[in-house]
Amino acid sequence: MLRLGGLAVDPPLVLAPMAGLTDQDFRLLIRRVGGCGLVSMEFVSSEGLTREHPRSWQRLRFAPTERPISIQIYGADPTRMAAAAQAIEDHGADVCDINMGCPATRVLRGRAGAALGADLAQARRVIRAVRTAITMPLTVKLRLGLRDDGHTYLELGRICEDEGVQAVTLHPRTARQQYSGSADWTHIRRLKETLHIPVIGNGDVATPNDAIRLLRETDCDAVMIGRASLANPWIFLQCAQTLDGKVPGVPTMSQRHELMRWHFSTIIERDDERTALHKLRLFCGWYTHGLSDGRSLRRQLSSLTTAAAVIDAVERFFAERSAA
Ligand SMILES: Cc1cc2nc3c(=O)[nH]c(=O)nc-3n(C[C@H](O)[C@H](O)[C@H](O)COP(=O)(O)O)c2cc1C
Repeated sequence: MLRLGGLAVDPPLVLAPMAGLTDQDFRLLIRRVGGCGLVSMEFVSSEGLTREHPRSWQRLRFAPTERPISIQIYGADPTRMAAAAQAIEDHGADVCDINMGCPATRVLRGRAGAALGADLAQARRVIRAVRTAITMPLTVKLRLGLRDDGHTYLELGRICEDEGVQAVTLHPRTARQQYSGSADWTHIRRLKETLHIPVIGNGDVATPNDAIRLLRETDCDAVMIGRASLANPWIFLQCAQTLDGKVPGVPTMSQRHELMRWHFSTIIERDDERTALHKLRLFCGWYTHGLSDGRSLRRQLSSLTTAAAVIDAVERFFAERSAA
């Protein structure tokens, strides 16, 4: 179990924030399957929140069944970040997370995200302002640094600890690396050895065994999983079962079908046709990965031009397999 101030994260498994992906539907889906101790929202701009941009506020919508939930904010201005943190505390989030790892050019240009890893004085100001503004648990998500010749994560981790942050998450790649190469977990171990506050390990966990290995090899307090949960939303449940010494279950075809049907119907209800088609194609591709003959469905996706046509193709795919 991971403790973030008064909040128990049990099991110590966290859904990573993923912009454009960990929206309310996906978080509810992860909760439906179970096994996840804390879900994260996609990051929200402190500028957008404090300037009352409707899109930023729309993203903040969450249901009680998603709890506990962490909301991640980004920005470089301490006053705005403090105001944004206050807004999400008032909004009822369980955890506030500061993004200090985003490598996107648009975010770096604003001196936010991973740029704060190269400006530690400003990073400290941001953390201090946010910490002072809220009473809820505060976490910070880091990368190693901007470039290979500028690893700052140990120093930034110490700043977090000094300023009263409850836990830090490390994705052990530099911003320059983006997602290339592999996440070097030895840095998670070093951070854990350096700090007294909990460390959440992240990066390249693809299977329940990876999660156990990450916990064992680095002694980290919790595991955060991102991309693997897109193709396998059961991964948290499987990790939790493995942590309990059980053999992880494998979803049946009918469970897969039920989950896809539920997710896709919520997408159709909530999103406009264009967004829905985009999301259905994406998730259909991921959910059928590793399924025998999933390729036949994936091959059709680019030629299907409406959300309804994708749903029909999915229904036909499962009907043919249950009849076989
Ligand atoms: C499409 C996508 C969007 C992401 N968006 C965010 C984000 O908004 N905030 C953040 O801190 N990290 C973001 N990340 C990084 C993930 O949270 C995570 O650190 C990274 O994917 C490594 O974990 P994984 O190997 O388990 O995927 C994103 C990653 C992906 C693939």
